[in-house]
Parts: sequence; C-alpha cells; structure tokens
Amino acid sequence: METRIYNIDGHSLALAKKIIESGGAVAFPTETVYGLGANALNDEAVRGIYAIKGRPSDNPLIVHVHKDYDLSSLVDFIPEYSKELAKAFLPGPLTMVYRSSKKVSPVVSCGLDTLAVRIPSHEGAQEFLKYVDLPIAAPSANISKHVSPVTAQHVFDDLNGRISCILDGGKCSGGIESTVLDCTGDVPCVLRSGLVTRDMIAQVAGECDEYHMVEGEKVRSPGMKYKHYSPRCMTRLYSYSDRFEALREYTECKKRGLKAYIMCDDGVAEELKINDVLKLGADESEIARNLYDKLREGEQVAEIIIAVAPLKQDGVMVGVMNRLSKACG
Ligand code: TXA
Ligand code: MG
Repeated sequence: METRIYNIDGHSLALAKKIIESGGAVAFPTETVYGLGANALNDEAVRGIYAIKGRPSDNPLIVHVHKDYDLSSLVDFIPEYSKELAKAFLPGPLTMVYRSSKKVSPVVSCGLDTLAVRIPSHEGAQEFLKYVDLPIAAPSANISKHVSPVTAQHVFDDLNGRISCILDGGKCSGGIESTVLDCTGDVPCVLRSGLVTRDMIAQVAGECDEYHMVEGEKVRSPGMKYKHYSPRCMTRLYSYSDRFEALREYTECKKRGLKAYIMCDDGVAEELKINDVLKLGADESEIARNLYDKLREGEQVAEIIIAVAPLKQDGVMVGVMNRLSKACG
C-alpha cells in the first residue's frame, strides 16, 4: 500500500471520507499528537486500527467527535461537573470517560461499559470530523509502544505501507496526549495527566482525584499498564538534582565511543555546556511540545539518550514526567 501525506483541502477530505466509509483508517492531526482514525460504529474498521498499530486488544480507544456532535447519543449520563468542564476546556486536550450508551462498536472500549470521548481543537481535526460526520475511534498514530507522532512525517516513519492517507496539519502545538478524566463518579478522576492539569480541573469542578495504579488491582485505564513512548535507542533518566551525574555518564559514554546525547531543558543545557544536546525548551509548554519530537530526533542520531528531568514537577510537568519516565523506563 502506498502511503501519502496530504495537505488538508477539499480533495484530501473527500478521499479521507471515502476511506473511513469503506472501513479503512486515516491519520489526522490534533492539537496533542496525530491520531489514527476509523469509523467507531464499525467493528471491523476498529479492529483494523489495532492490527495496523500492533496494539494490545485490551487497551481501549478514544472516540473523537466534531464540536457540534450530539454526545447524548453516545453516552448514557453526563454529570453536571463534566458539562462545566466541557464549557471551560472543550474543544481541547481533555478526554472524558462516561458510561457508554453502547452505540459505538464494543471493540472501541474492549468490552468495558464506559466510553472515552474527545473533542479536539485542532482546526484540521475539526474539519476532518465535520467532513466525515461520524464518531472516529483513534489512538495515537504510532506503532504500539513507540513514541507518539507530532508531525505527519513521524506518522509516515511508523506507518508507511500500512495506511494510505495522512492528513498533514503541521506540528502539534500541545505535544503530549490529552488528559484522560474519569467522569463516571461523583468526583472527576484523572486517569492520564496532560495539558489540562488536575488543578485546572479542580478549579472548575470543585475537586478532582488522581488515579494511581495499585499492584494487584484491576487497572482503571488499561493503557497505563503498558510500556510506552519508547525511543529505539538506550535511554537513561536523571533527576534535576543529579544533572551532574548525567554529565558524568555522558562523558563516560563519549570516552567509550558511544554516540551519547543529553536531553534537557534550555537552562540545564546552558549550565552543562555539552555539545550533543537535545534541547526541550525554556518553559513547560515548550517542553511538552518538543518532548516527542526530540525523542524521535534523538533515536535517529544517538545510541544513548541521557535525559535530565526538569526542576519543575507540577502542573503540565506531571504529564511530561509521566511520559519521560515511561520513555526512559
Ligand atoms: O491526545 C490524545 O488523547 C490522542 C489523540 C490522537 O487524540 N489519543 C491518544 O490515544 O492518546 P491512545 O489510544 O494512545 O490513548 C488512549 C488512552 C489509553 O491510556 C486508554 O487506556 C485510555 O485512553 N482509555 C480509552 N478508553 C478508556 C475507557 N473507557 N476507560 C478508561 N480509559 C480509557
Ligand atoms: Mg498512544
């Protein structure tokens, strides 16, 4: 199968619609990462996504809809706090989990009685969702367990030959996947942290819990138990306070003739004065935006990426650190 990257216009949208309607999958941009979308109402189409990615069949998918889509047909009950959150943050990088009305294919939620729904803000995503006029099940458009894609080229690098159409919406502005929020209880609960932080949610909803996996307990968000976001080279992760340890390992690696790179924020790069550096940026939104891009750049040039965690660990950095520690796990 030939894989092509298309600018988003009338021609490519018509092509994308045709592919989706015939049960195929299309890669499309969102403000977080690129998604690999298929018709959420069609069992075979949704199974196709798992096959293309090599995704474990017990890790449920998020359904993406246009901002004017009537959610009440997809889900059973939307609590008041979730309506407030939607007003505050949607369209945007917040996915909410509800009791499913069972309208979409059971393959989407892997047999769970809940459904994760997301309304992305990216203009290209909105155009695509409006044009196809169907709920679209979509995971990130990478090979399972690899780093999520934030450019059309990243999608191509992973899925060349496996899909025919990649809609190009430029580099994703957010850079890490959406916050996944369980809205089935009296209090919302963060299952996966992201750009909409727990504090931001609590400010609107009054309170907000955060889920932590407990050994031996059934996982509430199956995606959490898998190794994720891994670049195809060796990796190490140091805390900010151990940054000079990281520098020592870098120097050791260089002595042994290894292609080593340090990945860190601009401040640490300045301080350590290293040649081979993958700079993440100066502030938290830059760091989130560049994380996957730099991990993918790193795996092309480095035999080992030695990452130094940013000093700041709260807010958006909770989501960044979660990805960084899984990538360098
Ligand atoms: O930003 C994003 O969310 C991107 C873009 C493409 O929208 N999508 C994405 O999808 O990151 P994926 O498949 O890589 O991650 C989906 C996450 C997984 O951790 C999965 O376990 C969780 O959402 N999830 C999906 N349905 C769920 C459900 N019914 N209950 C709990 N967690 C669910
Ligand atoms: Mg993913």
